Amino acid sequence: MTTITDTVRSPLAAGTAVLRASELRSELPTENGTLRAVDGVSFTLRAGRTLGLVGESGSGKSLTSRMLLRLNPPSFRETGEVLLSGDEPLDIMELRRDGPVIRSVRGRRIAMIFQEPMTAFSPLYTIGNQIMEMILLHRTDDRSEARAICLEMLNKVGIADAERRIDQYPHEFSGGMRQRAMIAMALSCDPEVLIADEPTTALDVTIQAQVLDLMRGLQRELGMAILFITHDLGIVAEMCDDVAVMYLGRIVEHAPVREIFRRPRHPYTRGLLDAIPKLGRGRTARLASIEGTVPQAIDLPPMCGFFDRCPVRIPGLCDARDPEEVRVGDEHTVRCERHGPDAPADDSEKEANA
Ligand SMILES: Nc1ncnc2c1ncn2[C@@H]1O[C@H](COP(=O)(O)OP(=O)(O)OP(=O)(O)O)[C@@H](O)[C@H]1O
Ligand code: SF4
Ligand SMILES: [Mg+2]
Repeated sequence: MTTITDTVRSPLAAGTAVLRASELRSELPTENGTLRAVDGVSFTLRAGRTLGLVGESGSGKSLTSRMLLRLNPPSFRETGEVLLSGDEPLDIMELRRDGPVIRSVRGRRIAMIFQEPMTAFSPLYTIGNQIMEMILLHRTDDRSEARAICLEMLNKVGIADAERRIDQYPHEFSGGMRQRAMIAMALSCDPEVLIADEPTTALDVTIQAQVLDLMRGLQRELGMAILFITHDLGIVAEMCDDVAVMYLGRIVEHAPVREIFRRPRHPYTRGLLDAIPKLGRGRTARLASIEGTVPQAIDLPPMCGFFDRCPVRIPGLCDARDPEEVRVGDEHTVRCERHGPDAPADDSEKEANA
């Protein structure tokens, strides 16, 4: 009998680019003007690596990630390129939102897990049937084989007594078990890319740590690229290889995780990091503690979107143009007029702006 480990692709060499997103834009016409919810976002996802996407609520993280699967409502005007590599590279943005090609990509090549597993599972069918449905859609026509793969996945994600559990309904699972089952379903077709949108936010700290451990282990084994959306900088430090910091629909800083923690260049990133000790440690550190609020991304003038909240802003410069993206290291880019290594610490110029 075939199992997940012998029918699926062999893992790509770690670091191989599997998905390149370029200049993604997602705009929503509203009564008050056009909401530029995602405004020129580019990044690359690599096999065996995790890119963290962080930023305050409303910065456009979920919309960005859902663009990779053409999941946003049709009211959003979306442009850009999402190149999924392979024998025949595919530009996902050229696919119809509900067409057959994108449906063959969803779940099979790019899978998604999110905060609330109840929305991933219907209450009407057993967990096993729902995972098997995914396997039958993409991997095999043989029901007993699909059941065997499903059992293997449930075991792999650490669901004890999987032979009995496979025939249970979602409400018979605890929150942590449902989250594991959702991961089992997401990984049952061995996707090249996994999108994880706040996947552990609803879980208590112990279960959260177990689920994160599990994801890391499965990534080592299967070699998929992960886009990991989180508010939690403790999780970023633990899970991510690279970090993209989003603000007002843009990536304002992008760097390897150690660079972000050791040498953050954007005042917004510094603000996020400074906020950690004030709130307690690591895991409970939330991003929403920077003073001021995010403006609505409607009809914004061409200036730095962080200007009103920035402790080191330069009036006359930062509010006169949109800062361009500047490369400040091999893999480190930032969108800020004060991008140099000698940029002042956030406190040094407060009086200049008082
Ligand atoms: N279906 C929708 N209809 C209208 N506006 C939307 C919709 N989905 C998102 N938006 C708006 O787009 C912007 C980006 O939303 P998005 O959900 O991507 O933010 P996020 O960074 O994921 O936030 P959070 O951390 O709260 O999940 C926000 O201003 C939000 O209000
Ligand atoms: S461009 Fe100016 S206002 Fe914007 S973050 Fe940089 S220093 Fe602050
Ligand atoms: Mg979101």
